[in-house]
Amino acid sequence: MTSERVSKLLQEMTTEEKIGQLLQLSADFFEGSQAVITGPMREHDLTLATVYTAGSVLGISGAERVHQIQADYLAKSRLKIPLLFMADIVHGFQTIFPIPLGMAASFDPEAVKLASEVAARESAVSGLHVTFAPMVDLVRDPRWGRVMESTGEDPYLNSVLAKASVDGFQGDLDVEHIAACVKHFAAYGAPEAGREYNTVDLSEWRFREQYLPAYSAAIAAQAKLVMTSFNTLFGVPATANQHLFRDILRDELAFKGVVISDWDAIGELINHGVAGNLQAAADQALAAGVDIDMMSFAYAKYLQKAANLDESTRQLIDESTARILELKESLGLFTDPYRQVTPEREQAELKSVQNLNAAQQVAEESIVLLKNERAILPLARDQKLALIGPVANTGDLLGSWSWQGDQHQTPSIYTAMAEKFPQVSYASGCAYHQLNHREFDQALSTARQADKIIAVLGLPSSESGEATSMTDIRLPQEQLTLLQALAKLGKPIISVVVTGRPLDLTLVDDLSAAVVLAWFPGSRGAAALTNILSGAVNPSGKLPMTFPRSVGQVPIYYNQFNTGRPLSHTENDRENKYLSKYIDEANSPLYPFGFGLSYAEIKAQPISATQQGRSIQLKVELENTAALAGKTVVQCYLHQPVATTVQPVQRLVAFSKVLVPSKQKVELTLTVAPEELTYLDAALKRQTFTGELKFLIGLDSQHTKAISIAYQND
Ligand code: GLC
Repeated sequence: MTSERVSKLLQEMTTEEKIGQLLQLSADFFEGSQAVITGPMREHDLTLATVYTAGSVLGISGAERVHQIQADYLAKSRLKIPLLFMADIVHGFQTIFPIPLGMAASFDPEAVKLASEVAARESAVSGLHVTFAPMVDLVRDPRWGRVMESTGEDPYLNSVLAKASVDGFQGDLDVEHIAACVKHFAAYGAPEAGREYNTVDLSEWRFREQYLPAYSAAIAAQAKLVMTSFNTLFGVPATANQHLFRDILRDELAFKGVVISDWDAIGELINHGVAGNLQAAADQALAAGVDIDMMSFAYAKYLQKAANLDESTRQLIDESTARILELKESLGLFTDPYRQVTPEREQAELKSVQNLNAAQQVAEESIVLLKNERAILPLARDQKLALIGPVANTGDLLGSWSWQGDQHQTPSIYTAMAEKFPQVSYASGCAYHQLNHREFDQALSTARQADKIIAVLGLPSSESGEATSMTDIRLPQEQLTLLQALAKLGKPIISVVVTGRPLDLTLVDDLSAAVVLAWFPGSRGAAALTNILSGAVNPSGKLPMTFPRSVGQVPIYYNQFNTGRPLSHTENDRENKYLSKYIDEANSPLYPFGFGLSYAEIKAQPISATQQGRSIQLKVELENTAALAGKTVVQCYLHQPVATTVQPVQRLVAFSKVLVPSKQKVELTLTVAPEELTYLDAALKRQTFTGELKFLIGLDSQHTKAISIAYQND
């Protein structure tokens, strides 16, 4: 329903002013070379007048800077329509949280919501109104660099965390919150061969069952914007795809907010081969319902013929303008274009102790203990430790999409460890991709003096995120050579891996007594890791994505279909040639979805399953026999029911993170919602399972116990 103010503005605005609202410009149009540019630049022929009718800008922040630009802009705006400031605030503004894939490992919606709330507060006091987040693309291919920005391979986990993130960013859109832009619609996370910007081709059945749920959850959580994706889907580029944006997004999901293209995605319709020129590209995107053109200048083409637009184009421009003005109104910009932004508020908020503590807390929940032979971890304070590796003493722990974060202000793992362990020494051993003998020999000599070796390995944040697809997902050979040399010293090795993607850690696992996955852990990641290694915090992270034995297995994910010739996990698997398997690799992953160890000894036992209305409630007992408390994630999977379309061998349908005190039992109830007990038939109609349903309960996706119930769905 268009408000009175928006209706009135629409009547007063000229066609040029309406078209202006549809343009988003990059920061350099307003602040020259200091701008943050996050996409390819294209030639454009905009007049200064156009710049001052543009509806929004991306990549500018800072209380004073935004205030100055807004004041200057409003002074030139005939109808005083405020400029909208947008940017990529993905996992923190100046206080950087773990990358989203790391936060997903917390399996804690409250942690994800907290991270988004802090990011929103810091962004809002710095003058931002909209974040291009959360990215909720489902991803099953670690070769694709943007896997770091996702929450992994599972539709249900992605949906729960998408809602948590939107709730955290938006709150009630007061001046401490910002509008969320869910992206990238749709299925950008499924590029063929994991190659960035490559073709996506999914059946609509699979898209709707597995890729659509998380976008749908974000929209149900009232995300104010949706961003188009660069890829094709169902044979049509998303940015021109009316079935995707009109039928599915606008009609089925009833999305009333603003659709913004990704950077130059409208212009790229020419490369895709569906538009012959920029004007045709503009017409297709406008017809698909794209409201804002981010940096392709296609919509600027309408300015040249503003007086002669046909009625349908004029109508589409009015609809888009109305949605943009409603967004500005929902942010309170017509009442206060500055949203109470002052340098004092900004100063008090940015990287406050409270915010940094929140980042540390979330990082502690995100770190995953993947191996701990002979309980070598946690480490005693007085042990002689050698910290070796290219990632041991660097601030490059923030990960991609942390443009406002400062690596130089980020404590390194060595800095944090030295505060807790008085006898820790350090040597780099090698660079990320380089070995030199002096550095290498120095590291071995340092390691010889120690009782235990902590190898800190991984990739720089520059090899993670957009435009960083890789064909080889092992650690660089130089680092593996260093690890092999360290292993020859015959001392126990604890390997810490800093990464934005699942890697092939097979050799690391072979050579290490313990393996700790730190992700890119953020501003306080080093302190969080130190607390985990020292036992001050008991690790509770679980994998939101499968870690393969080799890249040849990719895509590999837990919720696969059984096939007609599955393995039986008996002797037959070896003897029978004609099974769905490889002759040179196992089918199983190195580390499965949902896996993560604890210093405690916790076991899960399903107690009962009862139907409550259309939901199912599962009572589970957890027992911790260890002398220390621990958090864990109880996971409930629906085992492959019989249906008219194939169903995953197992599918996550409920989970809960629980603290189990030492030497105690706790009982909890997991509720499986009715919508998790449905499936899509071959005609794309939603059906409900009937009859006996089997649930698998456990602390990861592989080690589970079954409980069944006859489900009545009448
Ligand atoms: C980039 C990304 C998108 C981001 C946008 C603006 O190309 O694909 O996720 O929000 O440009 O920076």
